[in-house]
Amino acid sequence: MKLDRPTAMLGGLSPNAFMQGHWQRKHLLIRQAFPNFVAPLKIAQVRKLARRDDVESRLIWREDDAWQMESGPFARLPRAKETGWTLLVQGVDLHDDAMATLLHQFRFIPDARLDDAMISIAGDGGGVGPHFDSYDVFLLQAAGRRRWRIGSQKNLDLDPDAPLKILSNFQPEEEFVLEPGDMLYLPPHMAHDGIAEGDDCMTISIGFRSPSLAELARGMLETAADTLMESPRSQRLQTLYRDPGQPAVAAAAAIPEGLIDEALKTLQAVRFDRALAGRFLGAYLTEPKPGVVFDVPDEAELPDLADDWPLTGCLELDRRTRMLYTGKRLFINGEPVDEPLSRVLRTLADQRRLPCAGSKPTGPESELLQDWLDAGWIRYCGE
Ligand code: SIN
Ligand code: CO
Repeated sequence: MKLDRPTAMLGGLSPNAFMQGHWQRKHLLIRQAFPNFVAPLKIAQVRKLARRDDVESRLIWREDDAWQMESGPFARLPRAKETGWTLLVQGVDLHDDAMATLLHQFRFIPDARLDDAMISIAGDGGGVGPHFDSYDVFLLQAAGRRRWRIGSQKNLDLDPDAPLKILSNFQPEEEFVLEPGDMLYLPPHMAHDGIAEGDDCMTISIGFRSPSLAELARGMLETAADTLMESPRSQRLQTLYRDPGQPAVAAAAAIPEGLIDEALKTLQAVRFDRALAGRFLGAYLTEPKPGVVFDVPDEAELPDLADDWPLTGCLELDRRTRMLYTGKRLFINGEPVDEPLSRVLRTLADQRRLPCAGSKPTGPESELLQDWLDAGWIRYCGE
């Protein structure tokens, strides 16, 4: 994707222009972002996902003027012709290759910010109520029609009695009906409410997460703790606290000041630098989502990379695999990689695929790739 080339997907803006003018700032309605759009999943397939216990799903409806919510898996779901219900299925990109491929069209935004793709299906009049999200979201109409009302209100108070996030006082300012292929981008904290018009409404929400600053601080401290004894400055930490010269005390319960000073001094062994931040973020951001299980392939079907690097085809990251790098350090599925980042590994991370022709890896690299193939983290696609 050319970052300065206007694209229909962003309403004629280039990725550069979208990021400058809209990302985290301003909503954008994009008519026919995906012309002739065909939903990656059929409604029946979404319903089927909601029956599985390894898939997160929720059913939302209104009863006697009150919001109701139930979590899946669901043995029974409302029929298409019933009105006023919505089924939300989370993390569909983890379960379906076509959905993962659709998500990859948004890779002009760093993978580090990507959360997941959720699909909602709804009967006529169904919706999840007026609310706001803390994340950036692209709402892509996949089938049927949905009327969106949005507002930039500051009052984000929530109804304390509702079982889900519902704004107490929604004040819409704009309204649009989205048809298949239309998309609405909303920055965090924009109030919105989408209501299905007619049956068979399907909306795909492509969500981007932001870690909270507290999450970042806690992660840095935990990583510092995990790596404390590896630091060359940690030698002093191998010794015990000593207090020769401690005077006799009348107040035995008071913690000695010298012990407090020494506790503070131990922190000098920790260096909060970019390497530590990279180590924390690399592992944290590539950690597979809870419940992710990779399909371990049949060994007989795998190429032997060390002895026999394939001349055709390519290696591809499995849709569930997360791979990020910073500087020369590479991370995959929550683990730091010992080999420094090479051209070959960088191509695999950035493109999520590595054409085999012309990319013969070095010995240790091919061992790594073989391990990842064996674990189902990457796959070989022959051509
Ligand atoms: C929906 O798809 O019905 C809800 C998505 C959202 O409002 O974030
Ligand atoms: Co929302």
